[in-house]
Amino acid sequence: MRAVVVLTAAGSGSRLGHTVPKALVPVAGTPLVVHALRGLWASGVVDDVVVSVPAEHRDAFERAVRRAVDDATAVGVRAAARCVVGGPTRQASVAAGLDALAPRGPVTGAAATGDAAAAVAGDQPAPARVIVLVHDAARALTPPEVVVRVAEAVADGADVVVPVVPVTDSVVEVHDGVRAVDRARLRAVQTPQGFELGLLRRAHAAAAHRADDEATAATDDAQLCAVLGAETTLVPGHLDAVKVTTPRDLLLAEALVAARVA
Ligand code: CTP
Ligand code: MG
Repeated sequence: MRAVVVLTAAGSGSRLGHTVPKALVPVAGTPLVVHALRGLWASGVVDDVVVSVPAEHRDAFERAVRRAVDDATAVGVRAAARCVVGGPTRQASVAAGLDALAPRGPVTGAAATGDAAAAVAGDQPAPARVIVLVHDAARALTPPEVVVRVAEAVADGADVVVPVVPVTDSVVEVHDGVRAVDRARLRAVQTPQGFELGLLRRAHAAAAHRADDEATAATDDAQLCAVLGAETTLVPGHLDAVKVTTPRDLLLAEALVAARVA
């Protein structure tokens, strides 16, 4: 089982308030985007990674990504990644990454190996079911086991896979008054989310054609696919896959990395 990945890193990190884009902010001396790449490669299921980066910082990202690939390769890790310029929204940055992936992802089976027997028998290779993961560099410390779980669920036939964790706070709804919500029925959504590549491409194409206000109501790729009627499969996420959003999250990320190497 192999997967390709779009890693979104084109945001500015306005809530973090750093001088450099959030994905270049170091945790334990290593940029968030590099932590994210290492987690993906450590899963052992990832082939190609397309990183969406901010246009005005492209060179800095190219350098960081190239160095991460070289460092990983030097210690025997199978590592590949390249940068593309993202867009003004996360959705646009995912779309830019999808455009940069090969038309049907990596070709596998008889088509890739030039299987002579299949060719002689006139067998057409079954259309490859390409697994694509969409991951946020902001969730830089996502454990490799979550990456594997998501990819496996897509390989097993799910069209849309979302890692989730239980909600621990009490939650109220504040629309038209204040109303308690039973948190046992709630889950917090993480990344990477997993998809069949063709479905995700159709979902983004459809979203691009909808009115802006409708399209921006979807905050992630699973929601874009749900609009097309796709069913979502949930798998367990991990509490370490926190989204680094505020300076406080950065403190937590530093502590998590320190605990890992201790
Ligand atoms: N992202 C992106 N392109 C954008 C906006 C966001 O690729 N135009 C990415 C971010 O780099 C991040 C992920 O989407 O990995 C989740 O977004 P968020 O945590 O909101 O990051 P930022 O948009 O950078 O932060 P902020 O909203 O505080 O500015
Ligand atoms: Mg944002």
